[in-house]
Amino acid sequence: MNTRAAAVASAALLSATALLLPGTAQAADRSAGAPDPSAGAAAPAGHRGAPTVFAHRGASAYAPENTIAAIDKADDLGFDWVENDVQRTKDGELVVVHDTDLKRTTDVEQVFPDRAPWKVKDFTAAEMARLDAGSWFGPAFAGARVPTLKQYLRGVDANHQKLLLEIKAPELYPGIERDTLRVLREAGWLKRGHVKHRLVVQSFSAASVRAVHQQRPDVTTGFLGTPAIADLPSYAAYTDQINPSNTTISAEYVRAVHALKGAHGKRLRVNTWTVNDAANARRVQGYGVDGIITNNPDVVRDATGR
Ligand code: G3P
Ligand code: CA
Repeated sequence: MNTRAAAVASAALLSATALLLPGTAQAADRSAGAPDPSAGAAAPAGHRGAPTVFAHRGASAYAPENTIAAIDKADDLGFDWVENDVQRTKDGELVVVHDTDLKRTTDVEQVFPDRAPWKVKDFTAAEMARLDAGSWFGPAFAGARVPTLKQYLRGVDANHQKLLLEIKAPELYPGIERDTLRVLREAGWLKRGHVKHRLVVQSFSAASVRAVHQQRPDVTTGFLGTPAIADLPSYAAYTDQINPSNTTISAEYVRAVHALKGAHGKRLRVNTWTVNDAANARRVQGYGVDGIITNNPDVVRDATGR
C-alpha cells in the first residue's frame, strides 16, 4: 500500500501499479460473485447490515477528488464503491470532474489565462489533458490529470471496484445520458456482471435519471435529492435509490422510502451524502440508511462497524 501511495505523483503510474497489487478480502468476495446490497437488486428485503460506504469523488479527504489517485486511495483503504461526477468537453469527451468550471481543482487559470470563466464545456479533451488536477491538493499529487471517463473506468476495473456514477449538470450537456451509456458499453460496463453488481447511475436531474432508465432499463439508477414523501411513488417508477443530503433526512423519511419498491421491483433504497464524521455517520445509520457517501470512508466504516 505505502509503495503505491508514494507513487501518486503520476496518475498513469498509479493506474498501472493497481494492476499489480493483490485484492483485499472484499475483492475476494467480489470475485466470488457475492451480491452487494447497495447495488439495489441484490439485497434480501429487510436486510439491515451496516451501511455500505461509498468513497465520495474517491477517497477525496486523502487524494485529489475525481482522480485516479482518489480511487486508488479508496482501494488502498479497502473500499470497493467509489462515487464520481461526469461532464462533457467541448469536443464531446466525457470527463470526470465535479465543478462546472476548472478553477478550483486544476491549474487552468495559469495554463489558459485568457479563457475565463474556464468552463468544462469550453475546453477540448486535449486541452484538459494538459491540466494539473493534483497540485491544488498537495505537492505529492502534482501531475494528476482530469481523467476521461474511459480512463476512469479502466482504473475502477483494475481495482475491481464498483461505481456510483453521477451525471453532473446534465442541463449543460444535452444527450449526455446517451453518451455516458455508450462509453459504459464500450468499456464493458453494461455487461450483466457489471450492471448487476457494480454500477449505479445517479443525478440531481430527475429527467436525466429517467432518460437513463428508459434507454437502459437494466441499469440501477439513483435520484439525488429529497422528494416529498407524497411524491416518492412517481420517482420509484424509474429509479432504485433516493439519495438525499444527510441534513434533510429522518428515520421517518427513510422508512417512507423503504416502504416502496423501486424500478426493479426491490425495496427502494437510501444512500445519503456527504457524511464525514463519526457522530453523523451513527446518526444516519440509526435512521436505517442503506449507504453513506463520504470523503472519509475509513472514519465512517469505523463508526458504523462495516
Ligand atoms: O453522491 C452524492 C454527492 O456527490 C452529491 O453532491 O455536489 O458532491 O456531487 P456533489
Ligand atoms: Ca457527486
